[in-house]
Amino acid sequence: MRALTWQARNKLQVDNVPDPTILNPRDAIIRVTLSSVCGSDLHLLGGYVPSMKPGDIIGHEFLGEVVEVGAGVTGFKKGDKVITVSIIGCGHCEHCKRNDFSCCDNSNPNPSITDIAYGQPCCGIIGYSHAFGGYSGSHATYVRVPFADVNLFLVPDGVSDEQAVFVSDAAPTGYFAADNADIEPGDTVAVWGCGGVGQMAIRCAYLLGAERVIAVDRDPYRLALARERAGAITINYESTDVHEALQELTGGRGPDRCIDCVGMEAHGTELDYAYDKAKQMLQLHTERGTVLRQAIRACRKGGTVSVVGVYGGLLDKFPMGAIVNKALTLRSGQQPGQRYAKRLFEHIQNGELDPSYLLTHPMSLEDSPEGYAMFKNKTDGCLRAVFRP
Ligand SMILES: NC(=O)c1ccc[n+]([C@@H]2O[C@H](COP(=O)([O-])OP(=O)(O)OC[C@H]3O[C@@H](n4cnc5c(N)ncnc54)[C@H](O)[C@@H]3O)[C@@H](O)[C@H]2O)c1
Ligand SMILES: [Zn+2]
Ligand SMILES: [Zn+2]
Repeated sequence: MRALTWQARNKLQVDNVPDPTILNPRDAIIRVTLSSVCGSDLHLLGGYVPSMKPGDIIGHEFLGEVVEVGAGVTGFKKGDKVITVSIIGCGHCEHCKRNDFSCCDNSNPNPSITDIAYGQPCCGIIGYSHAFGGYSGSHATYVRVPFADVNLFLVPDGVSDEQAVFVSDAAPTGYFAADNADIEPGDTVAVWGCGGVGQMAIRCAYLLGAERVIAVDRDPYRLALARERAGAITINYESTDVHEALQELTGGRGPDRCIDCVGMEAHGTELDYAYDKAKQMLQLHTERGTVLRQAIRACRKGGTVSVVGVYGGLLDKFPMGAIVNKALTLRSGQQPGQRYAKRLFEHIQNGELDPSYLLTHPMSLEDSPEGYAMFKNKTDGCLRAVFRP
């Protein structure tokens, strides 16, 4: 089959590779029909997630058709149209039973790397490095999905392919971010990052009761979408002081809930950005924390900071003092989309959510390296390039 493979930092290529096969009775093989880029792939591309090997297939946000199931799969059959939550749950461990699928104890066959780095082994993630299980990704003709009954979801009637594909990742990540923020009716929510995840977080914050959402980015096209499609008030951080603007918009209190949809590759205009970038280049720390610091500083006393932007290791100049002295709650995680997939499909069916506008660049899998270049450099108004294998 054909697949997009990671070769080295910032080097991708489309190759012929062997087809996946059923390895365990609870596996399914999916023929991929749409496979999207995601900001998390950029961390792989940029070399920020260790344990990638040349030839690894990336991609984890996808829609497809079941072509084969193992003997232990009961809920799906050949021909079913499905999306996959790529943060893999087993369905049986104590964490999965608590609906914390992204904390699964059983889905990572290479547990030692995250065990050493984080103190406990983390779950497996499709197409996301050997530290997270070494699973082959979805930018390919076929992909193997483990624990299929837990991680596959049937696409219901009334949901288009262009909507469904984002119920795999961007939409549940945005929903999880808003859910973790403990939004109460009347709240003002600030969202950093207007990529696919940030756009969905804005919409989901409204679905969960926010009165006002303020979104921060620098890309004029993404800011325009945040206003026109997601209903946010926007701040361009390159031309406006974000802290001052947020204080002004909230009568000096700060937003009730602050959501980081940017993560470790944040850009910035302030001194801390230059500091982070220099230390990152010297490999003295791994993260660029501009957004996290801004969110913690802006958040109102007693408020919540919800982080879905991905961080991988150690962050310097972390403002713990502000968290303690302002009584902030900090919540985070990889998205447990298994909790939200059915609810998100219902919101789409009811016309309350339409993620299809994230798909700005439909492309052939053969052109996927070009799609990644556009997505990484934010050129041609690319919000998400989506490949058809
Ligand atoms: N937790 C999860 O399960 C999960 C799932 C999917 C994606 N993610 C993460 O979410 C983040 C966003 O993903 P995406 O697909 O939307 O990526 P993206 O690259 O499309 O968007 C990121 C946006 O952040 C903006 N940005 C950079 N610096 C900023 C700053 N200082 N202030 C405000 N905005 C800034 C960029 O201009 C860009 O528009 C990534 O870190 C990704 O890894 C997490
Ligand atoms: Zn993702
Ligand atoms: Zn589990």
